[in-house]
Amino acid sequence: MTGRSPEADKLRRVRLWDPLVRSFHWLLVICVCTAWYLGEFGPGIMTLHFYFGYAIIALLAIRIIWGFIGAWPARFQHFVYGPGTFFRYLSGIGKRRPSLWPGHNPVGALSVFLLLGVLGLQAFTGLFADPDDFINRGPLANSVPGMVGWATSIHQVLPPIILLLVLLHLAAIVFYKVYKNENLVPSMLHGRKIVRGAVPADRIIEELPE
Ligand code: HEM
Ligand code: HEM
Repeated sequence: MTGRSPEADKLRRVRLWDPLVRSFHWLLVICVCTAWYLGEFGPGIMTLHFYFGYAIIALLAIRIIWGFIGAWPARFQHFVYGPGTFFRYLSGIGKRRPSLWPGHNPVGALSVFLLLGVLGLQAFTGLFADPDDFINRGPLANSVPGMVGWATSIHQVLPPIILLLVLLHLAAIVFYKVYKNENLVPSMLHGRKIVRGAVPADRIIEELPE
């Protein structure tokens, strides 16, 4: 979002998150929780863990493609913000009122990129991981033996970081609900949200009074 005009400042109910983003999100939640649980506490033979890992790779690939060819506001270009926008948003984050941001806000966007990046790295390194137990060898561990050492280490180090990022993600959602009186969750369920800011005309459901 760049320049502000009276038009851009109107309050509107819009169709925000499209069905692909919503399906991606909730499938990712299921797959990450399951893969994480199976990796940490699952049975010794981790075939199921691998399947959920493959599903995560497929989901991330689809979301990355959608980030380039998808519609507003799912495209990455709509939530890559410069430092000025980021710090301006951050300085006002303590105000006790809804942000009404159309899309991922500058702080949320950073956490989205972090989550996508860390999950991508976790899934990628799983392909080459080999903990020397002769059972759970990543499917590419034999083909590229040079990567096994560092890939296994990274695959073992990242899970607590993923847990921390997910907890921060949930804490941010609770903060917006409780402190800023803005519930972000329904828009990830049915797609609709009240926002203030420039939005494409075909996404507007209704103009709202101030
Ligand atoms: C393993 C757990 C989770 C992961 C890995 C995760 C990951 C993500 C990612 C990657 C996005 C960006 C979506 C996109 O643009 O494609 C996102 C957004 C979002 N997630 Fe999650 N999520 C998790 C759990 C949850 C849960 C349990 C809730 C609800 C209680 C939730 C609510 C949301 C909401 C509301 C947004 C949109 C935030 C905004 O308006 O900017 N997430 N999540
Ligand atoms: C984001 C997706 C993934 C998550 C959250 C995840 C999580 C985990 C966790 C928590 C462990 C246990 C680590 C430990 O013992 O310290 C593990 C081990 C393992 N995972 Fe994954 N994993 C994912 C994707 C994959 C993929 C795609 C593959 C390969 C197809 C894979 C293959 C393995 C292997 C071979 C191990 C045993 C390595 C070891 O114990 O060091 N993982 N994973």
